[in-house]
Amino acid sequence: MDIKTIGIIGSGTMGSGIAQVAACSGLEVILADVSDDLLKKAVAGIDKSLAKLIEKGKVAGPKEALLGRIKTATRLEEMKGAHFAVEAVTEDFEVKKKVLQELDRILAPEVILASNTSSISITRLAALTKRPGRFMGMHFMNPVPLMTLVELIKGIATTAETFAAVKALAEKMGKVPVEANDYPGFIANRILMPMINEAVYALMEGVGTPEAIDTVMKLGMNHPMGPLALADLIGLDVCLFIMEVLHQGFADTKYRPCPLLRKMVDAGYLGRKSGRGFYDYSQQK
Ligand code: CAA
Repeated sequence: MDIKTIGIIGSGTMGSGIAQVAACSGLEVILADVSDDLLKKAVAGIDKSLAKLIEKGKVAGPKEALLGRIKTATRLEEMKGAHFAVEAVTEDFEVKKKVLQELDRILAPEVILASNTSSISITRLAALTKRPGRFMGMHFMNPVPLMTLVELIKGIATTAETFAAVKALAEKMGKVPVEANDYPGFIANRILMPMINEAVYALMEGVGTPEAIDTVMKLGMNHPMGPLALADLIGLDVCLFIMEVLHQGFADTKYRPCPLLRKMVDAGYLGRKSGRGFYDYSQQK
């Protein structure tokens, strides 16, 4: 099927980033969420990001034409005309289950359905639908408009045709797709999260301050951000959730979440989104 219209479910950081990139690559977008308020907030964020990228010459405007390709919807029924759909709803199996089963009922049977999950088993999500062969993982990186990678994860039943179609779509969206098989954390979070978790252990044990730990990784390893600043960007609750997926999935203590990470999440210190994580963002707009 020629993919001209894509459905994106969930208008948070990831969903709105995917919508922005899709619109910039000439696709028509249907962006769905549970309320108009959330969708308005998402479109305002896309508007701001596009303005910045157009000003820098990284995206060709006009902005209004790009925004005009994004239609918003509060009912999943409006996904009916989509040629492809990707869910980017909250990382909660029960929430994803509800959304995926409803989408499976609404979308035409030949439509490919993808999940932007960062760590939930693609095989397990695919099995919730009647189209496991046309289901796979399409994992974008945050911030989506700036990061070139998209991790493509094959579930046990994903067909070669499905994989090829999603790979072509990722390339059309200007991303570099990398193939991964379905094991806990796939490739990106299998490697990234233990590094972040270890940085939190180093902080907990007093090996260094947050600034010292992040500076070592920035200047010593040329990482664009230190692991603790990156954890604040991703969300500490998301980092904890992924560590738990790795810990349970491999039944290996080397993936045990750092107690300090858990304590911060219990306190509601979730990173940038809550105004406080390893750093204080309360003065930032
Ligand atoms: N849209 C448009 N512009 C944006 C933007 C967005 N969404 N986000 C940031 N920018 C802009 C900033 O406003 C800034 O613009 P100015 O220079 O005009 O001020 C510019 O990009 C550069 O940003 P910063 O100066 O803040 O910092 P930077 O040079 O370090 O770049 C970064 C920012 C691209 C995020 C970089 O720090 C980076 O690559 N960090 C690592 C990100 C990363 O590892 N992401 C993966 C996370 S893991 C994940 O997503 C998967 C998962 O499952 C958890």
